[in-house]
Amino acid sequence: PQNITTIRTIAESPGLTSIPSAYTFTPTPHDQVVSETQISLPVIDYSLLTSGTPHQRSKIVHDLGKACQDWGFFLMINHGVPESLVRSMIDGCRGFFDLPEEEKEEYRGKHVLDPIRCGTSFNASVEKVFFWKDFLKILSHPVFHSPSKPAGFSETSLGYSKRAREAARELLKGISESLGLDPNYIEKALNLEQGLQVIAANFYPPCPQPELAMGMPSHSDHGLLTFLIHNGISGLQVQHKGKWVNINGIPNSILVNIGDHLEILSNGKYRSVLHRAMVNNKATRISIAIAHGPSLDTVVSPAPELLEIEKKAAAYIGIKYKEYLEIHQSNKLDEKCNLDRL
Ligand code: SIN
Ligand code: FE2
Repeated sequence: PQNITTIRTIAESPGLTSIPSAYTFTPTPHDQVVSETQISLPVIDYSLLTSGTPHQRSKIVHDLGKACQDWGFFLMINHGVPESLVRSMIDGCRGFFDLPEEEKEEYRGKHVLDPIRCGTSFNASVEKVFFWKDFLKILSHPVFHSPSKPAGFSETSLGYSKRAREAARELLKGISESLGLDPNYIEKALNLEQGLQVIAANFYPPCPQPELAMGMPSHSDHGLLTFLIHNGISGLQVQHKGKWVNINGIPNSILVNIGDHLEILSNGKYRSVLHRAMVNNKATRISIAIAHGPSLDTVVSPAPELLEIEKKAAAYIGIKYKEYLEIHQSNKLDEKCNLDRL
């Protein structure tokens, strides 16, 4: 099953009008309620965190805490990552997916923590029904890796991953503060200097029966904060107050969501958010998630200082990030099943 054909190859087969049964979900994944009303996501102005007046900074720290508590998901604006860099990153990933299959062979289907790995679905060796997507995963920190093709991709992804990491660390200072902790608390306790950063690019080609297929099932992310950029084609849904909400973002913003390890550290005060990806029959969607986590050997547990402040008992058992990651990546992607075990 590891060697199943890429979804790109299937989607490009001439005259494809229906999807292979291996991709058909029954009952359909679309039977859950999607909120019809236009909901506005919290917007966080990053520039106020880094160069606002003390008053602006304390207001944005407060807003950040509220966004983490109410949504676990927000739009970051004025983040300083050049629009051209975001566009090159998306073009570069598209270039990788478009390479002839034999040129991607060396990166296919190996260990979940290999520095560069591409494949199809999420984890075809354990899935009953496959997802309509191909992926490329790259570890970009503490050691930077990159496939050698397409040309220029390595420079682009190094540039983007550095800017993203800088912004993630700055947000985590604000988030520490919003929890009543020292601004450098998360940075130090989770050894972010050596923090893991994973780039996960997703390629969802047009699907002739989008209502029967799924790009990515409902799941939460590992790590602390994930940044998501995409090529402007909609498909992302986020769960909010028990309903699925379509998310499109606003130009030049980066979507940010809370991962499982921030939920553990905050003892459940800030929860990782469930999200999923739908497919469509018109255009290829490309999304690039970049996950920021602790260092691999950090044991993450609820912050003792926070338990003290809130007079609460720990609601999660500590676990080494590397172990959690291996479980998360080699299991089925299924809601919050890994976190629920702690
Ligand atoms: C992800 O959850 O990593 C990607 C979701 C998306 O494609 O929007
Ligand atoms: Fe995700």
